[in-house]
Amino acid sequence: MASLTINSKLRMNSGYEIPVLGYGVYQTPADVCEAVVSHAFKTGYRHVDSAAAYRNEAPCGAAIAKSGIPREQIFFTSKIPPKKLGYENTKAQVDTTLKVTGLEYIDLMLIHAPYGGREARKGAWKALVEAQEAGKIRSLGVSNYGVQHLDEMEVYMKELEEERGKGKAGVISINQLELHPWLARSDVDQWCSKRGIILEAYCPIVRGQRLEEKALQPLTTKYGKTAAQVLLRWSLQKGFVPLPKSVTPSRIDENADVFDFELTEEEMKSLETTDYAPCAWDPTKASLEE
Ligand SMILES: NC(=O)c1ccc[n+]([C@@H]2O[C@H](COP(=O)([O-])OP(=O)(O)OC[C@H]3O[C@@H](n4cnc5c(N)ncnc54)[C@H](OP(=O)(O)O)[C@@H]3O)[C@@H](O)[C@H]2O)c1
Repeated sequence: MASLTINSKLRMNSGYEIPVLGYGVYQTPADVCEAVVSHAFKTGYRHVDSAAAYRNEAPCGAAIAKSGIPREQIFFTSKIPPKKLGYENTKAQVDTTLKVTGLEYIDLMLIHAPYGGREARKGAWKALVEAQEAGKIRSLGVSNYGVQHLDEMEVYMKELEEERGKGKAGVISINQLELHPWLARSDVDQWCSKRGIILEAYCPIVRGQRLEEKALQPLTTKYGKTAAQVLLRWSLQKGFVPLPKSVTPSRIDENADVFDFELTEEEMKSLETTDYAPCAWDPTKASLEE
């Protein structure tokens, strides 16, 4: 674990690798996005998490183009907007994302949320599988999928394999969820671990709302690190891929400076709670009809 660095990667079910630390751009205004993503690249991040719904894919693409970093060293994620799933919308969104970012391929495309009903989810997945075969996307995944949505996907992927042929139903590489010590989602974690699906952690620093929590204090003192850094380390050591967001250059740096200490097993446990306390929306609880 101590050997984790900002350049460490995890191998996904797709066969491609994903950098263990991502840089999130939710609520990053489009007019500052290029500058902050460029700063993140200078700091050493190589993984940017955007979404069509964030309205900042274009400045992310501009920062990637201007970075001078070889394209294959950068990992770019986008997402099909919630409530706009379905086959045709998804197909169109993939092309729009490629167009606005100027990228030749998207590293990872996620279904942003399971809303929209069964047919919409199925259609979206089929369109993503086809886009992957066409070389437009490298890896596929979902976001905010609870166990009921994942079970449904598994059945659907079997059906799709019968329809399209063996190995032609795609593989889920990632499930992106709100994850932190107050929302560890052991049910989804177990479901995904069994199948090699990597969990990405959004809101890994709980939007700064719990930095004063008592359990963090002994660790910030012992390691001389901030509460945000301890939370990011917890996430990394859980095997998650945390996606901290900041538009503040000093915090962008701080959130990447988490590779020179390691929490012990007891310290990891000391942070764990049985709470279920989301700080963002929670589509994982949506019914299959929603
Ligand atoms: N798939 C989904 O549905 C979904 C939902 C939410 C988020 N996400 C992804 O996950 C990323 C992260 O989630 P998030 O942005 O909601 O939450 P977050 O990363 O936990 O927190 C971001 C907030 O914390 C502040 N902050 C950042 N670093 C800090 C530090 N070191 N100390 C104190 N405060 C700090 C930021 O302020 P400043 O920016 O002002 O510095 C911002 O207000 C998003 O950007 C997005 O890419 C995905």
